Amino acid sequence: MSLDLFSSFTVGDLTLTNRIVLAPMTRNRAAPDNVPQAINIEYYRQRASAGLIITEASQVSPEGVGYPATPGIYNNEQIAGWHKITDAVHDEGGHIFIQLWYCGRISHPSLLPQQQTPVAPSAIRPEGDAFTADGMQAYVEPRALKTDEIKNIVSQYQHAATQAKAAGFDGIEVHAANGYLIDQFLRDGSNHRTDQYGGSIENRMRFLNEVLDAVSGVWPTNRIGVRLSPENAFNTMSDSDPQQHFDYVIKQLSSRGLAYLHVLEGNMMATQREVDYRALRDKFEGVYIANNGYDKARAETALAQGDSDLIAFGVPFLANPDLVNRLKTDALLNTPDQNTFYGGDEKGYTDYPFLQNTN
Ligand SMILES: Cc1cc2nc3c(=O)[nH]c(=O)nc-3n(C[C@H](O)[C@H](O)[C@H](O)COP(=O)(O)O)c2cc1C
Repeated sequence: MSLDLFSSFTVGDLTLTNRIVLAPMTRNRAAPDNVPQAINIEYYRQRASAGLIITEASQVSPEGVGYPATPGIYNNEQIAGWHKITDAVHDEGGHIFIQLWYCGRISHPSLLPQQQTPVAPSAIRPEGDAFTADGMQAYVEPRALKTDEIKNIVSQYQHAATQAKAAGFDGIEVHAANGYLIDQFLRDGSNHRTDQYGGSIENRMRFLNEVLDAVSGVWPTNRIGVRLSPENAFNTMSDSDPQQHFDYVIKQLSSRGLAYLHVLEGNMMATQREVDYRALRDKFEGVYIANNGYDKARAETALAQGDSDLIAFGVPFLANPDLVNRLKTDALLNTPDQNTFYGGDEKGYTDYPFLQNTN
């Protein structure tokens, strides 16, 4: 088997044309009612040469929203919007998984039905401000979920998984990273519960396990991926022992026959790592996707050393729709424009030039 970034690779029963993955990226360009729209079709079509596209995080219910103009995957309008995107990607020969999201405490009453208070495992307010339709507003103290409310959220994931099937996706990625609800349960900085969902790592993983059991009733397990970020401090996250706790989580995940494990290694936008990711990777018998700060050289080294099977690129792919071709030909990359990452129109979204248009 070739260890080249540009060789095909099998994930479950899917054959990807290369080992380059589009990392999930929120771009806040859905319609205000959280429905994917025409501009989003073009964005994903442009990036369909990735071996696998993982979409921007998409809410499983109106209560799961945490930012304006982010897409959902719970109602029929959203299915219709997403179907045009999955069709466009498939027409180009690509594969696409949708990332399922429930923001929990990283939200704001103004974004939620009846202005309700965001929920979380524990009533611990994250630092900083929420990104709302009226600009930045301080995060509020979330309401700790009652034990018997958790089942309802699990069923929202199951419903979203069903909707994702109807929208023509090839699979789903359960977003258990970056300080959103599932991660808030996993890490002990944000989970101070004393019921069966808190305390030991076995208990803190219960919510993720219940979500995976629920969506496994809808999709074959080899079409379900999971994303983790053991040490990412983004969204006021921390854990007392990420190496040991995620060692446990990953061993448990390993027995499920998942499509892949996707890990944001280290801290977002930083190259230093405290956790030994090779040790974690070795606990997972299945496809491993590494992410965070990879360029071509690091990616090829990771593949050659067996540290990873696939590499997800975020910002480089955001700014280079033809990233696969550019990496293959060692071409220069476009410079990302941070001012247009979150929200706006086609500027900084679908107008990054392709290689043939840059000369
Ligand atoms: C604009 C932007 C939006 C992002 N949105 C998401 C998201 O919706 N879900 C997620 O899991 N990670 C998200 N991330 C993190 C990326 O998937 C990725 O982990 C990060 O950019 C590091 O990879 P890179 O160095 O290749 O860019 C986002 C990152 C950026 C820059």
